[in-house]
Amino acid sequence: MFMQINNLKVHYPVRGGFFNTVIDHIHAVDGISMEFDKGKAYGLVGESGCGKSTTGKSIIGLEKITSGNIIYEGEDVTNKRRDRKSAYNRDIQMIFQDSHSAMNPRKRVQDILAEPIRNFLKLSPQEERKRINELLAIVGMPEDSKLKYPHEFSGGQKQRLGIARAIATNPKLIIADEPVSALDLSVQAQVLNFMKDIQNEYGLTYLFISHDLGVVKHMCEHISIMYKGRFVETGATKEIFENPQHIYTKRLLSAIPEVSPTGRNARKRERINVETHYQKEHSLSFDESGRVFDLVPVSETHFVAASPNVKEVI
Ligand SMILES: Nc1ncnc2c1ncn2[C@@H]1O[C@H](COP(=O)(O)OP(=O)(O)OP(=O)(O)O)[C@@H](O)[C@H]1O
Ligand SMILES: [Mg+2]
Repeated sequence: MFMQINNLKVHYPVRGGFFNTVIDHIHAVDGISMEFDKGKAYGLVGESGCGKSTTGKSIIGLEKITSGNIIYEGEDVTNKRRDRKSAYNRDIQMIFQDSHSAMNPRKRVQDILAEPIRNFLKLSPQEERKRINELLAIVGMPEDSKLKYPHEFSGGQKQRLGIARAIATNPKLIIADEPVSALDLSVQAQVLNFMKDIQNEYGLTYLFISHDLGVVKHMCEHISIMYKGRFVETGATKEIFENPQHIYTKRLLSAIPEVSPTGRNARKRERINVETHYQKEHSLSFDESGRVFDLVPVSETHFVAASPNVKEVI
């Protein structure tokens, strides 16, 4: 384990009233913990607004952390995340859903790729040019791409450039926030397979954020399912899929379309009746205010949020 996140909370103030004072807080992330092993892929899934992007952004320092801490290689880096030139900022990179808006439209690709290199690696101009060519080759883009501007590329190509920028500094952890959801299905598969390839080649660790459980199943060894800023269930992908415990996980799994190997006879897995199921299990899954309970172990590699007296029920 090279990185650990402990009881992370990100609460956004809500302002209002005549004096525009803080009248409430949105608990976007409300006490989550994670551990990252080198070379593994961790999935973070959950419906829109549950706090996935806030989690990713707070880890790389784009959002303020309300409480909790991040331990990186044995050191508490919670307050160093905003130090743009720190080793932490070199080693943890992010890929966004929409690479286009994450790239300066007035800069050529070579300048976009040069930015992280200049921030973190001390290279001569000649070495820098070599590294840029190398990065373009890694992501399968022609060398003359470096003279073009972001708008001259397709969605899949832009994602590849976003990946090239993210890997420029040889990072340890890449946080990929819905990296393929804006792409056509066929291009999605290409980019996902490519991400798997570079993961294996460079021993990268991924925190892979997606609302699509199918994609996460394909990419990740470990999954955390988020609901209202908390984890309802977390564990080895196989265990989550074969032995889901939380009502919310079951609900997500029942919504995945199952496609036959031939692609024909595509059918929906039988949907569970969420309402009746939900009522029956609700009191075991959420406390009286609707907050997700703390996690309890199901096995050594599988945890579920459950009421303290749920042990007899599982
Ligand atoms: N800068 C902000 N100020 C106030 N509230 C915010 C801010 N950013 C996000 N939120 C709120 O925090 C919650 C979590 O948002 P977040 O973007 O992390 O969700 P998400 O899981 O990434 O959703 P999606 O799948 O739609 O991307 C939401 O209720 C959102 O409205
Ligand atoms: Mg998001």
